[in-house]
Amino acid sequence: MEKQNDWWKEAIVYQVYPRSFQDSNGDGTGDLQGIISRLDYIRSLGIDIIWLNPIYASPNDDNGYDISDYRAIMKEFGTMEDFDELLKEVHVRGLKLVLDLVVNHTSDEHPWFKEARKSRNNPYYNYYHWWPVEKEHPAYRPSYFEKSAWQYNPRTRSWYLHYFSRKQPDLNWENPEVRREIYKMMEYWFDKGIDGFRMDSIPLIAKEPEFPPIERRKYPDFFSSYAHGPHLHDYLHEMNREVLRKYDVMTVGEGSAITYKDVAKFVEPEREELNMLYGFGPAEVRNYTTPDSPDSGVPYSLLALKRMFSAWDRAVGNGWPAVYLGNHDQPRMLSRFGNDVPAFREISAKMLATFLLTLRGTPYWFAGDELGMVNPGFGHIEEYRDLATLNQYKEIKRKKGSPERFLETQKQISRDNARTPMQWDSSLYAGFSSVQPWIRVNPDYREWNVAEEEKNPDSVLNYFRKMVAFRKANRALVRGNYTLIEANNPQVYAYWREDDRQKFLIALNFSQYATEFSPGIDGEELETVLGNYTDYRVLGKTNRLRPYEALIFKRR
Ligand code: GLC
Ligand code: CA
Repeated sequence: MEKQNDWWKEAIVYQVYPRSFQDSNGDGTGDLQGIISRLDYIRSLGIDIIWLNPIYASPNDDNGYDISDYRAIMKEFGTMEDFDELLKEVHVRGLKLVLDLVVNHTSDEHPWFKEARKSRNNPYYNYYHWWPVEKEHPAYRPSYFEKSAWQYNPRTRSWYLHYFSRKQPDLNWENPEVRREIYKMMEYWFDKGIDGFRMDSIPLIAKEPEFPPIERRKYPDFFSSYAHGPHLHDYLHEMNREVLRKYDVMTVGEGSAITYKDVAKFVEPEREELNMLYGFGPAEVRNYTTPDSPDSGVPYSLLALKRMFSAWDRAVGNGWPAVYLGNHDQPRMLSRFGNDVPAFREISAKMLATFLLTLRGTPYWFAGDELGMVNPGFGHIEEYRDLATLNQYKEIKRKKGSPERFLETQKQISRDNARTPMQWDSSLYAGFSSVQPWIRVNPDYREWNVAEEEKNPDSVLNYFRKMVAFRKANRALVRGNYTLIEANNPQVYAYWREDDRQKFLIALNFSQYATEFSPGIDGEELETVLGNYTDYRVLGKTNRLRPYEALIFKRR
């Protein structure tokens, strides 16, 4: 049964990468007190939910996604008292707090793994996945961050499995004790009063215990086989029955290697698993499609983007979509889907805000995007911090490949693009810290920062606030149906949002060129109610959309 209270459908999620948001004690790393000091800013945006990337004890091989104690706070981020204060202050402001749940793997420095790796007879050995030497070498499986997902452990004479780095051994969900431990840990946080979890890599938790060779024909990319392990949905259903349904909380899964075809199984309410799941569609469209036509002025396929969002909207069935264009694993959405050259930066940032905030589904907004933050364009390997980039670089050097070419692509796709410090003001280090931060500040911070944008009523920041308020004031934009029109237009993304009382038409030019737009809506009396150019006009029979113009029309 669907919970009556589905507040998360009407909410907007604001994602904070704690390491990069605000440093409070001058060590160059963001922390919980820093976040507390910025809660009034977050509140001023009009959003409802804050999602924090992992804040638990961690040796930080993968910035907190390698957890050594699920019930302690990362030293650099503060203490449990700081956390309790943060939660209280979030709630005082009428906001909610969602944490990251990372249970596909632990750190190799977690006490469970430290025990497990001692001997095959250790009670914790079966908390993880192993391949004993007697069985010869395991069949090849790649890791996301390294070449092989198997790492040899001499003391047990066996390999352990790690889908991510060798410091992130995968937990064995087949073992009921592991599942019980995880459920208890989730209750610990829910009993503190947190409002939900974003579940890291959740489709990967279920493994085929025999680890047979992967069928390449069925799974050409390997990774999609990881997301289709046996019992996955049994585990999620069990987690729901044992934990989630006892609390008024929200859940969103990271749909690693999941396509729209799979999403309903996770989110249809009668299945009692998760509330929402997001996939990697945006990355696939941007990195793997070519423009629809050489002169569309869109550097990727807008047709593919439209198909992707429309397919997910339908595929959730009577579940609910999660929509986003960027996060801590993706480059800045503006550099990727908009246009970060000076002439188009502001207008395309506003167009993308209009897009995300008029879609059906809960929008996930990554901190800094409301300022129009862009990729920093790091040119040297020394500037990068992400182990994914650093490991691939080493591998390329080892194979005597071209590091120059690699660095060129990292400028576009490295995860560090999204991880540069939040730009608060024009002082040294952007008001983020009093010392050189753990990762370089984007040099454009002197112009692009909160303090500057607060002063300008037409800034990207103030447009974002306006769009948030507009969405909240118009129920059809939240709950209404989504209907794509002009599906084959390679420059314009247009759709209706409608419920029984209101009807909106949203028209977005994703191109750097102006274009004609004739929505072909006979007999509809429409008025323009919002636009990203300050002088947007009333709709005629045919209408011109300027570069990156966004218009919202309402039926009279
Ligand atoms: C998810 C996280 C990513 C992390 C990985 C391993 O994809 O979003 O940042 O590196 O899982 O936990
Ligand atoms: Ca700090």
